[in-house]
Amino acid sequence: MSTPGATARNLMASGSVSEGVESRRVALDVLDRVDRDGAYANLALPSRLAESELDARDRGFVTELVYGTLRRRRSVDHLVDRHVERTDVELRVRNALRMGAYQLRWTDVADHAAVDATVSAVPKRARGFVNAVLRKVARDASTYQFPTDALRLSVPDWLLDRLRSDLGDRAVPVIEAMNERAVVHTRPDGYRQDTASQEVGRLFAEVADGSVIADLCAAPGGKATHIAGLLGCSVAALDRHAHRAKLVDDAADLTSTAAMAVVADATAPPLRPGVFDGVLVDAPCSGLGSLRRRPDARWRITADDIGSLRDLQFDLVAAARDLLRPGGILVFSVCTLTDAESLHVDDRVADAFGDLLPVALSEPWEQHGRGGRLLPDRFDGDGMTAFAYRRSP
Ligand SMILES: C[S@@+](CC[C@H](N)C(=O)[O-])C[C@H]1O[C@@H](n2cnc3c(N)ncnc32)[C@H](O)[C@@H]1O
Repeated sequence: MSTPGATARNLMASGSVSEGVESRRVALDVLDRVDRDGAYANLALPSRLAESELDARDRGFVTELVYGTLRRRRSVDHLVDRHVERTDVELRVRNALRMGAYQLRWTDVADHAAVDATVSAVPKRARGFVNAVLRKVARDASTYQFPTDALRLSVPDWLLDRLRSDLGDRAVPVIEAMNERAVVHTRPDGYRQDTASQEVGRLFAEVADGSVIADLCAAPGGKATHIAGLLGCSVAALDRHAHRAKLVDDAADLTSTAAMAVVADATAPPLRPGVFDGVLVDAPCSGLGSLRRRPDARWRITADDIGSLRDLQFDLVAAARDLLRPGGILVFSVCTLTDAESLHVDDRVADAFGDLLPVALSEPWEQHGRGGRLLPDRFDGDGMTAFAYRRSP
């Protein structure tokens, strides 16, 4: 199943929604909320769409405009700023320029339709200015050569530098892949889950049906319900935050699986040690691997966030080890691509726990140290890093 955004692209090619001024207005409302109120796009968008009277096709187009403009913000600002000398451009007008430039460079909407409909969506007093700037942008939007990779890829310099140092030559293709529209995958049980997350659940496939499993960082419940369904077992699904644990209950209801939400700090889990056949630590992390699905995340994450959770990640793995029975499987996963949040944590695990023996990960995982990773340039899903260990008897 494809996202509304991908559908919109097909529609735009036929020109059937390209004149929607109301779609542009709704998209601008969402962009303004993200910038002005710090709202998350994936929450602000559905809530604004619910208030609108747009049909399904126009909703898909709005999704494309919002996600694309947010994702390409650095690039579109660059395209626009070449033609703007004023520094007092109000937020809504700035977002209209960004959204116009996005359409001109990255969509199939005809240039005149992109400019006219965007101009019509801003207050009258700003229309002349937006029209003049977008007409200049339109002259070379599709052929313009960005002066740096970070500007072209629309990422902060630090992010490209960090991924270059950790991924080498794969950094640019990986970011290019994460700049594509996300594809939503729906599992047979109705839960929508990225394919990389499904690969993490499959790491438990060899554990016998009916096993006892703990998921220490479970909300919103994607992996807990996947594992419960795969193994036909109950999963003790811990999360520290009550409002997030509620999401696990919702996921269990949707999928009719026995993932039982428990609100608890998993560094001191209220569970019996030494009896679990499998324990998952899908740890909190910077989230750099899921930029495709979270278009505004690249502007929220800072260089200081990378590695800031590594003590917590290690403590969670240590708590997970105590829960395992001898011979049981522990999986530590993070939806990120940096060594600080993966290899460096595993180094500490190797030093501290000689009884956690690494299990090699097979296709589609690419070997990474003692574990594996999925990189979005070759694997069609989020970037993910995982380590599997068997506790020696
Ligand atoms: C990456 S998300 C988990 C995603 C989930 N496994 C899934 O597939 O749907 C990490 C989760 O860890 C939770 N968390 C953070 N610190 C925790 C702690 N000390 N104990 C338990 N849960 C924690 C967060 O609330 C968040 O829901």
